Amino acid sequence: SSIGVSSGSSRDLLETVLTNKKDFLILYGSQTGTAEDYCKKFAKELHSKFKELQILCGDLENFDFDQPNTLGDLVDKVKAVVIFMSTYGEGEFPDPCVNFDDYLNNLLESDELKGLPIMIFGLGNSTYEFFNGAAKRLKEKLVDEAGATLLGEIGAGDDSVGNTEEEYVAWKDKAFDIIEKEFGLEGGDSSIFEPMYDYTKFEGKDDVVYKGELNKQYLSANSNKKHIGPFDQSYPYLAPVASSYEICAPESNRNCVHMEFDISGSNIKYETGDHLGIMPQNPQENVKHFLKTLSLNGDEVFDLKLKDLTSSLPFPVPTNIETAITYYLEITGPVSRQMIGQLAQFVPESEEKIKQKIIEISSDPNTFHKEVIEQNLNFSNCLEQISATFAWGDYIPWTFLLETIPTLKPRFYSISSSNLKDQDKIHITAMVENSDPNKKVYGVTTNLLNQIQKREQADQLPIHYNLEGPRSLYQTNSITKLPIFVRKSTFRLPKNPETPIIMIGPGTGVAPFRGFIRDRLIDNPDADMMLFYGCRNAHDHLYKNEWSDEYEPALKNLKVFTAYSRDPNIPKTYVQKLMLDQKDAIMEALMKGAFVYVCGDAGTMAKQVNDTLITIVSDKQNIDITQAQEMMKAMKLNGRYHEDVW
Ligand code: 2AM
Repeated sequence: SSIGVSSGSSRDLLETVLTNKKDFLILYGSQTGTAEDYCKKFAKELHSKFKELQILCGDLENFDFDQPNTLGDLVDKVKAVVIFMSTYGEGEFPDPCVNFDDYLNNLLESDELKGLPIMIFGLGNSTYEFFNGAAKRLKEKLVDEAGATLLGEIGAGDDSVGNTEEEYVAWKDKAFDIIEKEFGLEGGDSSIFEPMYDYTKFEGKDDVVYKGELNKQYLSANSNKKHIGPFDQSYPYLAPVASSYEICAPESNRNCVHMEFDISGSNIKYETGDHLGIMPQNPQENVKHFLKTLSLNGDEVFDLKLKDLTSSLPFPVPTNIETAITYYLEITGPVSRQMIGQLAQFVPESEEKIKQKIIEISSDPNTFHKEVIEQNLNFSNCLEQISATFAWGDYIPWTFLLETIPTLKPRFYSISSSNLKDQDKIHITAMVENSDPNKKVYGVTTNLLNQIQKREQADQLPIHYNLEGPRSLYQTNSITKLPIFVRKSTFRLPKNPETPIIMIGPGTGVAPFRGFIRDRLIDNPDADMMLFYGCRNAHDHLYKNEWSDEYEPALKNLKVFTAYSRDPNIPKTYVQKLMLDQKDAIMEALMKGAFVYVCGDAGTMAKQVNDTLITIVSDKQNIDITQAQEMMKAMKLNGRYHEDVW
């Protein structure tokens, strides 16, 4: 028996199922790779638990749904279909699911799926109005309309409170019980690790060994064609950094990098409000610590072979351990409770204390939260915390680590330039996550950007990246290039440039609004615009002089309101307060059809801004709160109220 992760060699779902003799289907729709990670984890656990299932796991993007062989043909051919679906933007499907979305909306017939058991796990964020909207819509279409049978309940992972893993574990335990009963199976232990790949040491020539070179990876798959796009996560564009500078004043204890990428001649198109994805790499300090804690030899070269022909490899092979860790494993992120729990199986009986400690911290979510998550421990720190003397590397197989640690995901930034004004450039505005040395948590990509920007003073930085190694981010003529791609967003200016806009963006939430404002410089300098911006004080006041010297003089109906939250000379002020001060102007703009945009990183900010708008509308229109709430919700549904929060 085996488990396959579809590599997309055939786009015909039914054919893939039949030729590979599969009887259990697990599919995912993923925006950044989180749904994909959970989906693959589920497939592995399901395989360990029920050996007789013949599992096919695949990306919804890899199959065509606009041809005769679609989900309807799977009735009676597979036992069940499990779908992991993440919600993106305002209740939408992830970008790679556009075809699947069309299929659900236009081609799926009523009762077409009668007799097909379905299970759904959604990944979402409850700070958004349409929490897990995509998973809910999936259920409506597949179950309520097309007649599939929903087994169990929809899982609802919530990223805003970091409970996706706990929700997953609870949902999965129930799902296993249901599968066991429904299909009369006998379950084993799902936590026992079974490798998906055959691992061998590689003894061949060094010149075939993959060391992270971008061009080698992408061009070998595309037979040495010129790198002309389309560019995405698996095929990014190596963009030259045209310029970069520090935005915070020297007095500030924070760093914020403004960086401009040159996209001329690249075929990359973007629209104002889109996101820029950057492919990260891990800092050398973290890679070394990981290697040391697990007694791994970074230079060891290995090869992987598929155990199941429908699978695909996670990165090019042969490669060495250090390369795999540096570019593909999320080693600095929060640790998974489940993964720590799985370590117990490798610890020998003679080390009873270690086993006990592992079980103690991983069995209870609250203990785990207190001892691991709140301490900001990454994986190797966590092992050290359990025991600094135990020889972890003698027992934990590298194959387990490479298959179980989540993959390193691209990081996304709101684009702060305008495609009208800055056609050949993409600007981003990134606050460097290293301001609190006690937390010992460093943003993997913001620090990379900072190192590039502060190249001359790199030795003063807390962590370091290899920019001269195999990925050669520093090119010969000293230009730095970074692997990037554009992700479409729903954050768009109104089509009509006359429509007033109200923008609320504390911190780096102001980034897309700088783009919006630069757009209006070109297409309507008379536009009515209000910007509510917030920062700590004058030292981290982003683009302080641009607003006053460039934009306000050129755009006569632009009003910028700035709230300082940590200026010793004034009371702590948030954007909400300034909005209340401007309630007449806000109401007037709303009456003229204004669009509202909220962007930012403050956990509770978007909700409080929403509440503030409700207060203003209820007060000025003399309607009760519930009516005002309905109005705001209607604005979101009609695309007049956009949120981009993280
Ligand atoms: P603070 O960190 O001083 O509390 C950008 O991060 C700005 O947003 C900072 O001035 C920050 O203030 C502020 N901020 C934090 N939480 C907020 C909230 N809930 N609503 C509005 N602004 C907030």
